[in-house]
Amino acid sequence: MRTYFSFIKRHMDYLKTEGIESLSGTIKISGAKNASLPLIAMTILAKNSVSIKNLPQVADIRTLLKLLSNLGATYEFQDEKAVVDTSTLTQTKAKYDIVRTMRASILVLGPILARFGHCEVSLPGGCAIGQRPIDLHLKALEHMGAHISIKAGYVEATAPNGLKGCNIIFDKITVTGTANIVMAAALAEGQTVITNAAREPEVVQLCEILNASGVKIEGIGTAILTIEGTNGKLLHIDEFTIIPDRIEAGTYLCAGAITKSELTLENVNAKHLSAVLAKLEEMGSRFTITPDTITIHPSENIKPVKIITQEYPAFPTDMQAQFLALATQADGTSIIEERLFENRFMHVSELQRMGANITLNGHVATVYGKTQLSGADVMATDLRASSALVLAALVAIGETNIHRIYHLDRGYDSLDKKLQGVGSKIIRLKE
Ligand code: UD1
Repeated sequence: MRTYFSFIKRHMDYLKTEGIESLSGTIKISGAKNASLPLIAMTILAKNSVSIKNLPQVADIRTLLKLLSNLGATYEFQDEKAVVDTSTLTQTKAKYDIVRTMRASILVLGPILARFGHCEVSLPGGCAIGQRPIDLHLKALEHMGAHISIKAGYVEATAPNGLKGCNIIFDKITVTGTANIVMAAALAEGQTVITNAAREPEVVQLCEILNASGVKIEGIGTAILTIEGTNGKLLHIDEFTIIPDRIEAGTYLCAGAITKSELTLENVNAKHLSAVLAKLEEMGSRFTITPDTITIHPSENIKPVKIITQEYPAFPTDMQAQFLALATQADGTSIIEERLFENRFMHVSELQRMGANITLNGHVATVYGKTQLSGADVMATDLRASSALVLAALVAIGETNIHRIYHLDRGYDSLDKKLQGVGSKIIRLKE
C-alpha cells in the first residue's frame, strides 16, 4: 500500500531562485488554513451537507478531507469550494497514517465524541517545532464527562451518557484546544464556560458560525466563552466563506519589505494583522489600507526590531521565522524571542548557511544585520521556516535551492505561482 510519505518522496519538489529580486504588483490572499481546519471538522456537527467557500488549495486541507472520508463522510472539493456531507460518517477512529502527517487531525476528537459518544484518535506524537502535547484538550473533555484512556498510541474517549456542560479553565491558551472544546460543547447538555480561551480570528470565525447555526455563544473574541449546548441535536449549517489567511498575508508583506518592493495584497483583513503591521512599521515600512487590501510601501533602510511571540492579539509565532529572515537585512541588532514553542528556531542554522549572523540563546535569537546573504542549498524544516528561507533567497546573491518544500505545501497556496505573478523568477522543480 502506498503511504503518504512514499507519495511525498516520489513527488519531492524543490524551489529554485536565481538571486536578488525586485517585485511589483498584486497578490490575492487565500483563505486561512488555520480557520479552514476547525471549520471542516465542525461539519461533523451538521445534519446537512455543508458548503465551504474560499478554502486554500493546500495539503493540510486535503488531508483533513481525506480523514473525514476515511470515516465515511463524502465531499467534493473544487476551485476553493468544498461541500462536505458527514451524514454517512459511521467510523469513529482517526488512524495513525493520517494523524501523523497533520497534528491538527486532533480537531475531530471533540465533534466526533460529542456526536457519537466515542472516538479514537491516534496520538499525534512529537513534531518539528516541539512537543506540542494535547493534555489540555483531554483534561477539558474529561471535565465534560468523557472517560479517556491511552491505548496502543491512541486516545480512546467515550461519553456513553453524552458530554455535560461545565466550567473549563485552560492552564495555557490553546488554539486547537479551544476549537475542540467549543465544538464538543456545542452538542453537550447545558452550558460550558471556557476561561482563558484563545482569541485568534480563526477561533472567532468558528464561534460565529456555530452561533449562526443555533448554538448560542457569548463572549466571542474574548477570553471567556459561554456556550449553550444543543443536547445532542445536530446543527443546520449554512454556506460560509473562510476568512483570509493572515499568516500568508504577513509573509507576502515581509516579501515586500525584504525586497524593498511595493506590493498590494487583495482579499486580506488588516484588522487581523495589527501586531504584524506594527512591527513592519517599526522597521520602516508604510501602508495604504482599505477594507480588503493592504499596500506596503517599503523603506530603503530596514530598522532593527524587538519581537516577542505571544498569543493573539500579540505577535504570532507563525510569523517569527519570516521576521527573523527580514531582520538579517536590518541595519542593526534585532532580538526575537519565541515564547510559544520550544524548538522553533530550526530555520536559524539554514539562514546561517546563507551567511546570516544570528546567535541563539535558548528561546531568544539575536540577529546582527545587515548581512549580504548568498544563495545555497537549504532545507525546509517546518511550514513557516520554509517561507523564511524563500524570503532570504529573494535577497541572496546567486542561486538558492530550497528542498523539502512539502512543508511549505502544507500551508501556502501556490506560493511559487503567486510570487511569479509579481515578477519573481522562483521556479518549482523535481528532485
Ligand atoms: C495553533 C496553530 C499553529 C500556531 C499555534 C500557536 C492551527 C491548526 N495551528 O496550533 O499554526 O503556531 O496555534 O498560535 O491552528 N499546549 C499544551 N497542551 C495542550 C495544547 C497546547 O501544553 O494540550 C501548549 C503548546 O505546546 C504550545 C502552546 O500550548 O506551547 C500553544 O499551543 P496551541 O495554541 O495549542 O497550538 P496549536 O493549536 O497546536
